[in-house]
Amino acid sequence: MHTLQDLLEENLWRQYVTLNPQVKVIHRLLRARGEQIVNDHLALRTFGDPRVGLDVMAQPFVQLGYRCAGDYTFIEKKLRARHYEHPDTIQPKIFISELKLEQCSPALRNCVDSLLDQMPSGAANVWYFPGSGRLWKLSYQQYESLQVESEYAAWVAAFGFMANHFTVLVNALKTFDGIQNLNIFLRGHGFKLNTAGGEIKGSPAVFLEQSSTLADKVTVEFSDGINTIPGCYYEFARRYPLPDGRLYQGFVEKSADKIFQSTDHSP
Ligand code: NI
Repeated sequence: MHTLQDLLEENLWRQYVTLNPQVKVIHRLLRARGEQIVNDHLALRTFGDPRVGLDVMAQPFVQLGYRCAGDYTFIEKKLRARHYEHPDTIQPKIFISELKLEQCSPALRNCVDSLLDQMPSGAANVWYFPGSGRLWKLSYQQYESLQVESEYAAWVAAFGFMANHFTVLVNALKTFDGIQNLNIFLRGHGFKLNTAGGEIKGSPAVFLEQSSTLADKVTVEFSDGINTIPGCYYEFARRYPLPDGRLYQGFVEKSADKIFQSTDHSP
């Protein structure tokens, strides 16, 4: 029998930290200041195919008590997304997006099909499916041609199923006066931040401010050789209270749209 901790920490967090050295460094820097890190949310990406789509990926979380709490659409990036919350509010929210394949070119759909066809049967029905990694072989040439049409598709093709990012809840940090100061601290330690749409996305008016690092380049083995490509990033979120006093728990489409670009080649 597995627990939520097995899925979130032993599986998803460990895999994310192992692939992305910047996360370890930022964690260490914050802890050295005496900070306790609370995860606001983690984000997963998938293809909108019945074999591996949003609903399939959500299943292990739903079985562990999560409930859908918001729907989102990103028209230009051809994505739809949902966020899930756990009754125990200390648990991170789960943000899952999927690429709407029906809106993509036949060439992209054929390529994605050829990847999903390689998955071992039953691979999407295991409790650790959200962190099961890449379940197919992929050439660098395929990666590059996917990227021309959709950076998102290329990322999922290269890394498979794993957390795209975790997110530090800035409200829980004690030694930073807001997200601006945290950004200055991170830049001071040499981290590059995603500046698409401004360094801080959102505002108190929409009850959410977010920033993120740019993804580290990581080494990936393709069927025709080894290449370095953008991996995962780390996100920071500050939430503001709604008129009823509770912290806003949702996401802001306009901000998330820009955050997606943290894995883009061109910063
Ligand atoms: Ni996020």
